[in-house]
Amino acid sequence: MSEAAAGRLAGRSIVLGVTGSIAAYKAVELLRRLSAEGARVQVLMTRSAAAFVGPLTFETLSGQPVLQDPLELLPDERIGHVVAARSADAIVVAPATAHWLAAMATGLSGDVITATCLATAAPVVVAPAMDAGMYAHPATRANVERLHAFGYTVVEPATGALASGLVGQGRLAEPERIVDAVVAALAARAGGEPGLAGAASPPGGMPRARAGAVDLAGRHVVVTAGGTAEPIDPVRFIGNRSSGRMGVAIAEAALARGARVTLIVGQTAVPLPGAATIIHAATTAEMRTAVLDVLPETDVLAMAAAVADFRPRRRAAAKLTRDQAPTLELEPTEDILAEAAQTAGRLAPRPVLVGFAAETGSLDRAAEKARRKGVDLLVANDVLEPGAGFGVDTNRVTLVVPGNAPEPWPLMSKREVADRLLDRVAAILSARESPAGREAQGAGESVDRTGTAAARSPGEVPE
Ligand SMILES: Cc1cc2nc3c(=O)[nH]c(=O)nc-3n(C[C@H](O)[C@H](O)[C@H](O)COP(=O)(O)O)c2cc1C
Repeated sequence: MSEAAAGRLAGRSIVLGVTGSIAAYKAVELLRRLSAEGARVQVLMTRSAAAFVGPLTFETLSGQPVLQDPLELLPDERIGHVVAARSADAIVVAPATAHWLAAMATGLSGDVITATCLATAAPVVVAPAMDAGMYAHPATRANVERLHAFGYTVVEPATGALASGLVGQGRLAEPERIVDAVVAALAARAGGEPGLAGAASPPGGMPRARAGAVDLAGRHVVVTAGGTAEPIDPVRFIGNRSSGRMGVAIAEAALARGARVTLIVGQTAVPLPGAATIIHAATTAEMRTAVLDVLPETDVLAMAAAVADFRPRRRAAAKLTRDQAPTLELEPTEDILAEAAQTAGRLAPRPVLVGFAAETGSLDRAAEKARRKGVDLLVANDVLEPGAGFGVDTNRVTLVVPGNAPEPWPLMSKREVADRLLDRVAAILSARESPAGREAQGAGESVDRTGTAAARSPGEVPE
């Protein structure tokens, strides 16, 4: 079996729409990757796109003529864009210009790509690329929102250096992320997710929380995992039994949903995902620094690490010998979660904060803890319960949303817990970005996951 035939898109017909962005050259690499995954790719270009990259390049690499004109007929007199629309298993538009987003949002089929998207029943994935100011403009935001409402997957552009010489959000997402989004969109469709064809997408809202969803594409998810080690001397420390499994499961689940992931790890006993950026933080103090450093660029912070509550007040400079057995004097460590919540409160948009509470014997304190710490979600578990503690692949948790009754979840694999948790995180992000959510944020209110604004009382400010 060839490498292509074994790929994730083996036997699939993918339409690749290229529009007139400086990032059009990156569509060549995207085409190569789609082909390497086994897809047969038909390229469509706007007239502007052809000014950036010659159609000959795409024709050569795809082995098919490029369609550039909505008025074009095929040699057998069939209408080009209608044939493309019907033969596509999925359409991916990358890069998508501000102009194209506007045309698509309003259904103006003046170019071959909008015409094809309008005529198709296939899932559509859109990867915008433009100057940061253009992407932040309310007109573009509204157009992107509208594409969400169509049920399209939008792979958010990355933040970085732009062709304009400025730095901001507007860089075309990396080709592998766009390919992942196409694979996920097809998987979601195969799983029965309604799309445009079924006209069953909720009006005004992108279908959320679906299997294989890339609903965290363009988000930066930061996860802490593992246990901290508080030194007694250069070789000994106070640690805990955390293996890092829960945090790593969240990181892996977030990567699968298209997020950029930073994993801040202490002591772990499991392999770390290669696609995540790894920051090692041995002690609570180091973890605090790492979390606070990265927080301003964070959309979601999930603090799954088991952080020490206290550490030796003094650390011996040399290894202590048997006859030097110390009496350990302990001091409290920094409360990273509370500090992160305080800092997050000053950021706009405010990152979604997920705390974890490992308890023994009772979860009675969890609701009060969630409120006091100022988190959006608190995952509490009783580590003495069978299957729910350290070092096992399963967990039985209770989710606490401040102000709501605690939700006990059944015993699940840690990956299932992670996916369910990220469903809730994605729902919070989406509610915040709804018009009602934005209004509430502007008025200094918090928004719950249903999009309902709830006033944040001073009592909810973390300690
Ligand atoms: C050098 C250059 C680079 C451009 N890059 C972008 C871009 O990255 N994103 C964008 O939305 N528009 C960009 N534009 C503007 C578009 O090319 C222009 O809006 C065009 O009408 C888009 O047409 P289309 O959407 O039909 O492809 C650029 C223009 C120039 C001259």
